[in-house]
Amino acid sequence: MAYNLLKGKRGIITGALDENSIAWKVALKAKEEGASFILTNAPVALRMGKINELAETCNTEVIPADATKVEDIEALYEKSIEALGGKLDFVLHSIGMSPNVRKGRDYGNLHYDWFLKSLDISALSFHKMLQTAEKMDAINEYGSVVGLSYIAAQRTFDTYGDMAQAKAVLESIARSYGARYGASKKVRVNTISQSPTQTTAGTGIDGFDAFYEYANQMSPLGNASAEDCANYVISLFSDLTRMVTMQNLFHDGGFSASGITDGIIDKMSK
Ligand code: NAI
Repeated sequence: MAYNLLKGKRGIITGALDENSIAWKVALKAKEEGASFILTNAPVALRMGKINELAETCNTEVIPADATKVEDIEALYEKSIEALGGKLDFVLHSIGMSPNVRKGRDYGNLHYDWFLKSLDISALSFHKMLQTAEKMDAINEYGSVVGLSYIAAQRTFDTYGDMAQAKAVLESIARSYGARYGASKKVRVNTISQSPTQTTAGTGIDGFDAFYEYANQMSPLGNASAEDCANYVISLFSDLTRMVTMQNLFHDGGFSASGITDGIIDKMSK
């Protein structure tokens, strides 16, 4: 059911690669809720993914941008504001990639150039998008910027590798930039810490199925789906959350607050 929560709002949605992507679901919901927005992804992902299909469904266009390149982000904001007919009200950062994780590098054998790349793509790009937006005054008052995180920022998950540091930096940027941007332009910045989700980025983690099932058993509500995550993102883009900023918000069916659950006790007792 749609509530017109984003009626008249304009935004940018990064990271929709295919129909499993969290950003893909956010785009469909944002459309349903009355928003107009631009889709973007890295030029290389545009060749591999299906983003043009999504653009057609959402009656919008795709503007390529590598989120590690400030000049691409500047052009993205400039062209988006022109195409949408005004400044932005929301931005979704749904970007993550670790060459170390992708190539199966153990945490005790990291390639440091790749580590820097993981940080640049998955965390510093968030700062670059915020800093560029502020300098260009691209976002309206009470606009909302959301990034997607994972609980490996707070707790260790063996095969998550250097993405754990990337997520810790991402969440820290949301706090620091949220403080600055709130005071200067009343723009809100938050991260959502999402359950394991079956997407290209998610399933790239070694042992993902075990991760997924463990979290599912450890969460009283079970794992939150990509679609549920999209609903939460929409609420953060809406005026219903206009005083929420600088937070890392867990969206995980209760996983982050669980010590042990009956499901795990049953499994361990067998
Ligand atoms: P996905 O693989 O569909 O999305 C990741 C996106 O990042 C892709 O569209 C990719 O093209 C884009 N990207 C990579 N490098 C880029 C660059 N240089 N510039 C611009 N875009 C670039 O996977 P998913 O799961 O939808 O990931 C979205 C976000 O959600 C990521 O930050 C991920 O870490 C986070 N997340 C995912 C979870 C999961 O289990 N799938 C759990 C918690 C958070």
